[in-house]
Amino acid sequence: MAKIVVVGSSNTDMVIKSRTIPRPGETVIGGTFVSNAGGKGANQAVAAARLGGNVALIARVGKDMFGEEAKAGFQREEIDISCVKTDETAATGIALILVDEKAENSISVASGANENLSPADVDEAEEKFSLISTADILVVQLETPMDTLKHTADLAARFGVPIILDPAPAPQNGLPEDLLSRLTLIKPNETEASFLTGVEVRDIDSAKEAAKILHARGVRQVIITLGKEGVLVSDGISEPTALPAISVQAVDSTAAGDAFSGALACGLAEGKSLIEAVKFAITAAGLSVTKLGAQQSMPTREEVERKMSEE
Ligand code: RIB
Repeated sequence: MAKIVVVGSSNTDMVIKSRTIPRPGETVIGGTFVSNAGGKGANQAVAAARLGGNVALIARVGKDMFGEEAKAGFQREEIDISCVKTDETAATGIALILVDEKAENSISVASGANENLSPADVDEAEEKFSLISTADILVVQLETPMDTLKHTADLAARFGVPIILDPAPAPQNGLPEDLLSRLTLIKPNETEASFLTGVEVRDIDSAKEAAKILHARGVRQVIITLGKEGVLVSDGISEPTALPAISVQAVDSTAAGDAFSGALACGLAEGKSLIEAVKFAITAAGLSVTKLGAQQSMPTREEVERKMSEE
């Protein structure tokens, strides 16, 4: 089984779905509430595990009920949690999420223990369990400290392990050049691609322009997701390919990007071609949008394969 190692965040999400997302000073009554496991790193780990990947997570949770529940959830998904540390000094990350009737969301995160995920945690994962050097693919995001991310990218380069960055939440000040040049693949959405390149990305043509800039800065493969407009896939060698989105009944777009990244990592680690892995990821992300929540909305392999055979 393909081995995927995710270095990233773990949160507990408190979600209210209602008609609209309140503006400052406004109160909206009449929503439904769910609490479920989230965090971009953990969501990607669960997405990949549910699709059949052999997944290990390097993360930190707090010494509290939420941290215990998160770890129990990872174990149910058969994720290796040898390197999910319980932080003695900080609480588990909490995300407050508001979802409206169009399935759009607004998220505020109290990072807690995620802020303490350190380069030493990643070194320990390598020293004790060889987690980095034996991975088929590494997956990272931007909800944990930049030093840790850079250190992970350095180790990936040292061991020749491919590394995918999902640059979310959007890097308002861009990303360090020495990080970009170590990445095998970057997968921004249109907003993230705009922050990274200065190009206003809104369609396939502007995404092509942004992809060119990212290649010039050293990233080998660029995938830009554009919501309903589809996905641009650029390997930096051949002409970029535009793939369509799938049409679904949208309930909640939270963690759709995480479903995409987890599925992409799983597909690539299994040896699918870039285009086939992106098609697999588009379907997984589309299905995740049909359910409320983050980890609880991640589809199974069977669901993804069934949907792909219907398309
Ligand atoms: O990408 C969605 C995730 O962002 C949520 O699960 C929330 O925890 C925030 O990290």
